[in-house]
Amino acid sequence: MTRVAFFDTKSYDKIWFDKLNIDYNILYFENKLNKQTAFMTQNCAAAVVFVNDEINENTINELVKNKIGILALRCSGYNNVDLKAAKNKIKIVRVPEYSPHAVAEHAMALLLSLNRKIHRAYIRTRDRNFSLDGLIGFDLYGKTIGVIGTGKIGKVFVDICKGFGMKVIAYDPVPAKDKDINYVTLEELFKNSDMISLHCPLTSDTFHIINKNNLACMKNGVYIVNTSRGALIESEALVEALKSGKVGAAALDVYEEESDFFFKDLSNSIISDDVLTVLSCMPNVLITSHQAFLTNEALENIAKTTLKNLDEYFNNKKLTNEVKFKEKD
Ligand code: NAI
Repeated sequence: MTRVAFFDTKSYDKIWFDKLNIDYNILYFENKLNKQTAFMTQNCAAAVVFVNDEINENTINELVKNKIGILALRCSGYNNVDLKAAKNKIKIVRVPEYSPHAVAEHAMALLLSLNRKIHRAYIRTRDRNFSLDGLIGFDLYGKTIGVIGTGKIGKVFVDICKGFGMKVIAYDPVPAKDKDINYVTLEELFKNSDMISLHCPLTSDTFHIINKNNLACMKNGVYIVNTSRGALIESEALVEALKSGKVGAAALDVYEEESDFFFKDLSNSIISDDVLTVLSCMPNVLITSHQAFLTNEALENIAKTTLKNLDEYFNNKKLTNEVKFKEKD
């Protein structure tokens, strides 16, 4: 049986892979894949990874030494892979879509919780504090939300927002043709949005798309929701904007430096990242640890598509979900 090295394994990953896999001997490792752990792929033919594995040139060279022909991402984003280094050495495949609904619904869950202070009310009432002081929210109805990126997830999110009676404006260099969306420039979006939700990939163009300068152009008290990638936001600038009140609240499912912290139980540890510590202490910040994808439907689709990606490779078929280096990457 073909051996597959599966990195960054969590209990919930195994559920669907164990249910659906018949062709592969999957070796589940808790470690993330990086240069140091790449040796674990010895005697395997494929590696399966997730969002925070480090697939840089060094890792790729180690994989090639072990004759790994394919690296399968269990996610859609591939910003953690050096595609240039992988070119002509190893095939990279991904899961382009597993449940846009899972992520879009989580973005709305974060926005609703943040606005209506559900995270604070939950803790208060458990301590029999039934006071409402400090819990005032606002009606989403009639407010303007700016959506950055209207691909699969962004489009679902736009529909959800419209269902709430919100005014939606959006920015995307490639506007959706199949949806009636009011596109504006990025500057207009920053200037006119009461809330901003990020649904674009992390690329050299979108790195720190929310930065000190752009924050200064936003409405006072703007809400920011990020379920895409941490490095879309300049974290230090966000902290300053939260301190000054420029940003009224922020909901983060992703964080620039998340790879050392997210997906782990660190409740007995001191967090070495000061920015994350400050953010997690603020009452108007709600952090989830890259959880937006985590629905049964998404996990099933991730396993199905990853196994299909491997099948295509090992049966010499065209790779439907291959990611290739383009000059701009
Ligand atoms: P997609 O590829 O369908 O859509 C991305 C959209 O962003 C496209 O319409 C593209 O034109 C647009 N875009 C590209 N550059 C842009 C720019 N400079 N400014 C504004 N828009 C830009 O991707 P999908 O499936 O909607 O996913 C979006 C992102 O969500 C992924 O790249 C990933 O980072 C993140 N994600 C997060 C998950 C989580 O669990 N938190 C799970 C899945 C995806």
